[in-house]
Amino acid sequence: MITEVLPITEESLKKAREIILSGGVVAFPTETVYGLGANALDEEAVKKIFEAKGRPSDNPLIVHVAEKSAIEPLVKEILPDAKKVINKFMPGPITVVMPKSKIVPDKVTAGGKTVGVRIPESTAARQFLAAVGVPIAAPSANTSSRPSPTSAKHVFEDLNGKIPLILDGGECSGGVESTVVSINESEAMLLRPGLVTLEELSQVLKKVTVHPSVLADGKVDAAASPGMKYKHYSPVARVVIVNDDILFAKQAYAYIKSLGKKPVLLWQEDKNIKDEMYYCFFAQNDKALAAKNLFALLRRADSEGFDVVLAQGLDISGEGLSVMNRLLRAAAFTVIDKNTTKEEINRIL
Ligand code: TXA
Ligand code: MG
Repeated sequence: MITEVLPITEESLKKAREIILSGGVVAFPTETVYGLGANALDEEAVKKIFEAKGRPSDNPLIVHVAEKSAIEPLVKEILPDAKKVINKFMPGPITVVMPKSKIVPDKVTAGGKTVGVRIPESTAARQFLAAVGVPIAAPSANTSSRPSPTSAKHVFEDLNGKIPLILDGGECSGGVESTVVSINESEAMLLRPGLVTLEELSQVLKKVTVHPSVLADGKVDAAASPGMKYKHYSPVARVVIVNDDILFAKQAYAYIKSLGKKPVLLWQEDKNIKDEMYYCFFAQNDKALAAKNLFALLRRADSEGFDVVLAQGLDISGEGLSVMNRLLRAAAFTVIDKNTTKEEINRIL
């Protein structure tokens, strides 16, 4: 299959509409990451998403709509807490998981009784949704387990030949996927942190429980948050989180290099980083910038042939929680600090 990459124009949107309404898949930009969309009400079309991505079929998809009024038919009811979150944060980088209605196919929800619904904020995503006129089931448009795509080029790297069309809307402004919060009668639970932060959610909801898999290995009760149990966000390079200062990071860098490896530091702007290969992760404590850069820099490390990424650990307040949630998975939960011995580093690499 030939994969076309087209800027967003009247013509390309018309093409996207034709593909979606005839049961095909289209990659499209959102403010978080690129999505791989199909008509959410067409089970056969949704199957094509799982095939193109190589996604495990027990991992449910988010349904994207353009307007708040389009949420109602997808869910059994909108509880008062869900309504508060929807009114405050949508359109925006958030997904609310609610009990599903009958019209949502089992394939979308992986057989579950709930559905995640999201109204993206970016103009490009909204143009796409308006053009197709049906709810769109869409995961991130990467090959399963790879870092999520934040540009059309990333989508092309993973899915060239597997899908007919990528709508190119430039770089995503957010860079990490939406916040996922599930809301039922008894509780609100944060299943995946994103750029609508836990602090912001807590201003609207009395209590938000953070699912244990958010910062820990997804082996703990994966049922509520299926996506968190899989290998995730992995570049080819080995990612190692450094929970220490730049002096220690430089020592670790030098040691890893002495082993014949090709490491790169992923660190905040710092004029003391001179002799090392270095990507600027963020500047001026701007954790939202770290979120925007993370996946793109992991992919860049691969394309430039680095085999170890030494990434700065962030504190988990604000957007830091979403960055650390992705980074821990990219690193398979490998964290080093001053107490880590050389033998341990040898074993990690
Ligand atoms: O920002 C985003 O959310 C992007 C863009 C394209 O909208 N989409 C995205 O989809 O990240 P995906 O499939 O890569 O991640 C969806 C996550 C998974 O961890 C999945 O398990 C979880 O949301 N999820 C979806 N529906 C759910 C449900 N009904 N219950 C629990 N978790 C759900
Ligand atoms: Mg994904």
